[in-house]
Amino acid sequence: MDEKKIPVIIDTDPGVDDALAIMIAAASEKIHLLGLTPVDGNVSAVHTHRNALDLVSFLGVDADVAEGSYDQLVCRFGRYATSTHGETGMGGVVIPQSDKQFHPLRAWDYIYEKAKEYPGELVIVAIGPLTNIARTLIMHPDIKPMIKQIVMMGGSTTRGNVSPYAEFNFYVDPPAAKMVFESGIPLVMAGLNVTLKTGISFDFISKLAQESGSRIGGMFNELVHGYSDVKINKEGDKASVVHDAIAVAYVIDPDKCETEEDRVEIQTERFLEGTWGQSKVVEGEPNCTVITDIDMDFYRDLYRRTVKYFGSLS
Ligand code: BDR
Ligand code: CA
Repeated sequence: MDEKKIPVIIDTDPGVDDALAIMIAAASEKIHLLGLTPVDGNVSAVHTHRNALDLVSFLGVDADVAEGSYDQLVCRFGRYATSTHGETGMGGVVIPQSDKQFHPLRAWDYIYEKAKEYPGELVIVAIGPLTNIARTLIMHPDIKPMIKQIVMMGGSTTRGNVSPYAEFNFYVDPPAAKMVFESGIPLVMAGLNVTLKTGISFDFISKLAQESGSRIGGMFNELVHGYSDVKINKEGDKASVVHDAIAVAYVIDPDKCETEEDRVEIQTERFLEGTWGQSKVVEGEPNCTVITDIDMDFYRDLYRRTVKYFGSLS
């Protein structure tokens, strides 16, 4: 491995924005993408696992796929975000089915093995519900000091997207999120409070894809257009909110993000008051770096670089 690269595992529920985040990570010269650990989330785990295998093959990325969780830690959630990501999770984009096999280890054992291989260096980018990460902590409690950082897309210090308070990834499995926030591992949270500020305009992506003329640039464009987490951005353009990419952007260059240190607690008990899965900022010793803003020129440039990188390969 190139010594300068950061060893990264992406824990993911692909998911359109997951797929785009994976592409940005795979194209970055700062990241050594070791593997993906899929999880039940945006769509059923059968689809998230299939998507992970197909994506790495289609992209030509040399990364493992280690089989993760098919349900949640305590009780099965069983509701999916198909209205945002399409029935199979790829926003209607059909990726050729690959014959890639899963890594022989399950996600929690795979993460443990990689943490031992890269002690104090391994960064986990967790962009789905935190079930696999919680299972890793349960199965291998001695892993904690070996992980450099968990950078998550999840939660919010302001509003939610599935309830007034809760964000999707934490809402799907709050006991898992709670375990991660109480782990003592250095945490970074890219929550809705920042991701909702980061719409990437459709025109910008379409232009990039056109210029690239490559099959992967084309897929990038189709993914964005098949994804329905869309808003009008500050410039008044129709824009895609690629939540998960903000966690990857932070790993690539944390200096391009504004952050604050907070104590965040995950609400797991007050279902009737609608706070289930809320990431609540409370008084006390900080346990999490919360991203509050990102340099949009830097962020847009990651898309340019990604399309260019894959364009040069295909
Ligand atoms: C998060 O939920 C999923 O729909 C996205 O992939 C992202 O990880 C946003 O709330
Ligand atoms: Ca996701």
